[in-house]
Order: sequence, then structure tokens, then C-alpha cells
Amino acid sequence: MYNVKCLNKISSVGLDRFGANYTCGEDVENPEAILVRSASMHEMELPSNLLAIARAGAGVNNIPLDKCSEAGICVFNTPGANANAVKELVIAGLLLASRKIVSGIEWAKSLKGKGAEVGKLVEKGKSQFVGPEISGKRLGVIGLGAIGILVANAAKSLGMEVYGYDPYLSVDAAWGLSRSTKHAQTLDEIYANCDYITVHVPLTPDTKEMINAESIAKMQDHVRILNFARGDLVNSADLLKALADGKVASYVTDFPTDEMLGVEGVVAVPHLGASTPESEDNCARMAADELKDYLENGNILHSVNLPNVSMPRDPAFSRICIIHRNVPNTISLLAGKLAEFGINIENMQSKSRKDYAYTLLDVTGDLNGNAAKIEEFPDIIKVRVI
Ligand SMILES: NC(=O)c1ccc[n+]([C@@H]2O[C@H](COP(=O)([O-])OP(=O)(O)OC[C@H]3O[C@@H](n4cnc5c(N)ncnc54)[C@H](O)[C@@H]3O)[C@@H](O)[C@H]2O)c1
Repeated sequence: MYNVKCLNKISSVGLDRFGANYTCGEDVENPEAILVRSASMHEMELPSNLLAIARAGAGVNNIPLDKCSEAGICVFNTPGANANAVKELVIAGLLLASRKIVSGIEWAKSLKGKGAEVGKLVEKGKSQFVGPEISGKRLGVIGLGAIGILVANAAKSLGMEVYGYDPYLSVDAAWGLSRSTKHAQTLDEIYANCDYITVHVPLTPDTKEMINAESIAKMQDHVRILNFARGDLVNSADLLKALADGKVASYVTDFPTDEMLGVEGVVAVPHLGASTPESEDNCARMAADELKDYLENGNILHSVNLPNVSMPRDPAFSRICIIHRNVPNTISLLAGKLAEFGINIENMQSKSRKDYAYTLLDVTGDLNGNAAKIEEFPDIIKVRVI
């Protein structure tokens, strides 16, 4: 039996993943696992038998990661669970960037009360809202992760010619990317060629304000820029100047700032990227699956403080899961001690991440309480036998 404590309300789609061996809820005592969305855990005393925390969402700044690592608690997040929600809004953003839909709708509202004249006024006034189609145009996607790939593939199926730039493209991402996406070797290639540019990179010191006067100057005239990633990827003052100069035709953002509101050419969306019920369900489902696989099999996928390590289960073997410091000689010490105890290692995986490492051992032989002795060795943080 496992206890799972929910620090926030978690979608039942996620909680239903836990079967009869689990007690889940907000009042659960002595949890082996915690599910959390936005509740801050920084001031919380971590329960003594806590093994894992899963954040149903991407950011983990509400969780004390260093404290968890030191206590041998694995922390998970749910990367990509809201990718489809963001992709759909970006596709809407491409159309909003082109067709003056927002200002057209605002203008149509102003005709309220004109009675039978409305039809004629619409026909007379609509020419001010003409905008180009996206089919046949070139889209540059900067960052081909969970969201960027979905955007690239969807834009392709809407008839766009897609350029992608991501110097750190993962193998998984490469498998999912439409083969017709043109591989841009440099950002300048994107800037020089694309009618539309959309950014899907994390905000880091490297990417902060990557869209600025210098990069905009390299872009095509009347370029349309979309930012559904993070506000600070764009230098607001430079962008507003480029809009005023006509260099940039429109800017669609999920992260509006005060100075952008009401500016001609800016479409300000109030951070709606992940705001769908499906996205919440996906996060809850993924978080629950991560916890279950860790508690039942010791497998780690999508941890933010420990390495991803997983092995298929073989019922013939017992499994020892060891969180330890990433220092020399630990693996040989473990192997030596297990041999002394008469335990044979059948399968093994070990990976490190910064100061910590995680080792999974499938073993045969009589553990006879000896596994617990391993926890007493220096640099071993937590040992579990499942
Ligand atoms: N609008 C919203 O509500 C919303 C929701 C979810 C995520 N986001 C934002 O979208 C961003 C992307 O999300 P994701 O789930 O696709 O993340 P992800 O980690 O799957 O993908 C990010 C990609 O950016 C690439 N990258 C990193 N630095 C780069 C650089 N300098 N140049 C080019 N590529 C670079 C990485 O290799 C990775 O493939 C997130 O960082 C987050 O800020 C916004």
C-alpha cells in the first residue's frame, strides 16, 4: 500500500491512474508520494518516509530541490503535457497575426445599433482588415522541443514552408519532426528567410531578449513574430520601435506588458497557452504515471533532480534502487558488498546528474536484510528494495 498526498486539487483523470494499492487525497498522512501543482513546499517539513514528489506542470520553483536531493526524494515534473494546448493557440496566433481578426471583431462590435445598415456597413468597411493567408508562407520555428515540433508539423499541414532551428535537438524530438522541415543551421537563416517567426525556447541567459533590434534588423520586412514561450525572450522597446517603423507587421504574444497593450499590430493574449481542461488532465495523468512507475518499479522518467534511469521488470529478480552521491568508487563498493552478502547482480543501470547518481540493480540471492546495511555506507543516500 502506498499513500499519496495531494497538496492541490488534482484532476481525477490523474488520481484514477492509482489503483487499489493506493490511498490518495489531501488529508493523507505519512505519504510516500506527494502530488502538487502550485502550492509552495519551501516551508513544509518533508515527511520522513517521502520518496517522491510530482509537480503536475513544468516549473518546479515551488519545490525545495536541493533539500529533496539531499533527502533522497525524487522530484518529477510533466514536460510537454501542455504542448498540444500551446500548439493550438500558436496556430490561432498565426491566423491572428495575419488576418486582422481581432481589430475586425472590435470594429464589428462598434456597428451595434445600426440596425438594417449593419450588412452594408460590414461590406463597405471590411477592406481595412485584409490580411494574407498563411498557406505558402515561410515559418521559422526557433526551438524544436515538445511545443516547437507540434507547431512545425501543424503549420506544415496548413501549407506553410517550415524552417526549424534548434542546436540541441533531442533524438526523440527528431523522430517526431516532419521530414519536410528545413533544418536551419543558424538563427540568421531563419531571420533571412521567414515571413513568420515563432519562438519556443526556454528563457535562459542565452535566450533572454534574443528578439531585439539587432535580430529584427536581419528579418524580412513586415515579418510577423509570435511569442508563446516567455515575455523576456523579446526586448519590448526594440519590438515596439520595429512595429512603429513598419519593419514588423505584427507581434502576437501570450505575455503582454503594459507598454504593449493597445498598440497597433500587437495581439495580446493573457497567458492562455496551457489554459485548457485537457492540459490539466494530461499533467495529472503524467504525474501519476511517473510516481507509480517510481514507487512500484524504481524507474525514473522526467525527474528534475535525479537522472532518468529505467529498466523493464523481470519478476524473477528483486530490485534494489539506490540514490547516492556522484563520487568515484561507489559502484564498485556496492558490487563488492553485494558479492560479500552472496547477492548476484543480474541487470544494472546507473546514471549520474551533477552531484547525485541513481543505480538500479536487479539481483538474485537472499537479501536477508543486507540491503539495508548498504544505506550505512558513505555517500549512499537512500536504498529501497522492491
Ligand atoms: N504560453 C504558455 O502557457 C506556455 C506553456 C508551456 C510552455 N511555455 C514555454 O514554452 C517553452 C517551450 O516549451 P517546450 O515544452 O517545448 O519545452 P522543451 O524543453 O520541450 O523544448 C525547448 C526546446 O528549446 C531548445 N533550445 C534551448 N535553447 C535554445 C536556443 N538557444 N536556440 C534554439 N533552441 C533552443 C531545446 O533544445 C528544446 O528542444 C518553455 O520553455 C516555456 O517557457 C509556455
